[in-house]
Amino acid sequence: MSEGKMNFIVLTIFPEMFNSFWAHGIIRKAIELDKISVSTINIRDFAKGRHKVTDDRPYGGGCGMVMKPEPLAAAIRASVARAPYSRRILLTPQGRVFDQSVAREFASLQGLILVCGRYEGVDERICDDFIDDEISIGDYVLTGGESAAMVVIDAATRLIPGVLGGLESAEKDSFSRNLLEHAHYTRPRTFEGAEVPEVLLSGNHKEIEKWRLETSLIRTFLKRKDLMKDRSLNRREIEIMKKWCLDIEEIIHAQSVRSSDSLSGDQ
Ligand code: ADE
Repeated sequence: MSEGKMNFIVLTIFPEMFNSFWAHGIIRKAIELDKISVSTINIRDFAKGRHKVTDDRPYGGGCGMVMKPEPLAAAIRASVARAPYSRRILLTPQGRVFDQSVAREFASLQGLILVCGRYEGVDERICDDFIDDEISIGDYVLTGGESAAMVVIDAATRLIPGVLGGLESAEKDSFSRNLLEHAHYTRPRTFEGAEVPEVLLSGNHKEIEKWRLETSLIRTFLKRKDLMKDRSLNRREIEIMKKWCLDIEEIIHAQSVRSSDSLSGDQ
């Protein structure tokens, strides 16, 4: 991870969308702690003419509009002048899919210039000559790259050392070890008839840690088996899973004994 401040510059035709994003929660704290600096550049400010037009009809016909290259190029140049060491990223459904490992990669950089497309997309010559990396936040189409830029900034910022307190360590997160996080509970001890698991009240830290690892594994197995396939289990985790296998076998065995008993009883 880089020491020093990470610099985010967002290029958008809707800079006001970011005002409340910067003003709350961990992002605000990261700015106050001087871990990140954030700014927006309004692409429209770089458009020529009285109407400051940023889009135009596509060559070859068809529906929708395309973002014009000149204002985008000028806005990207201005951003690079402000932060020359930054990676230039275009938010687009055609990019590589953003995940925790990309977030980690970005958190280690000195700066990101995030270009938010609108309409049907941006002129291809911008992608070819002014962009280092294309990022999609998932296989669906948004009305613009702004919400995607917020996702990227959020996920990267919380991984910058010193942004989260020790208690909220990013190391324990879902995905940091390709395992989903364990279940969480807080007061009250009984909520609408549902109890907090006994072990969490025991004060036995070793048992609590074991229970947390077990629930992590079970959740990942039940909800996101695909994550498990992408990681190697350590010895302890294999032991836990073998124990489930034995428990399951025991139950199946007891069932088959029971059903053969009832079959012989039927005769
Ligand atoms: N712009 C439109 N859809 C997007 C997506 N899925 N990811 C990033 N930027 C986008």
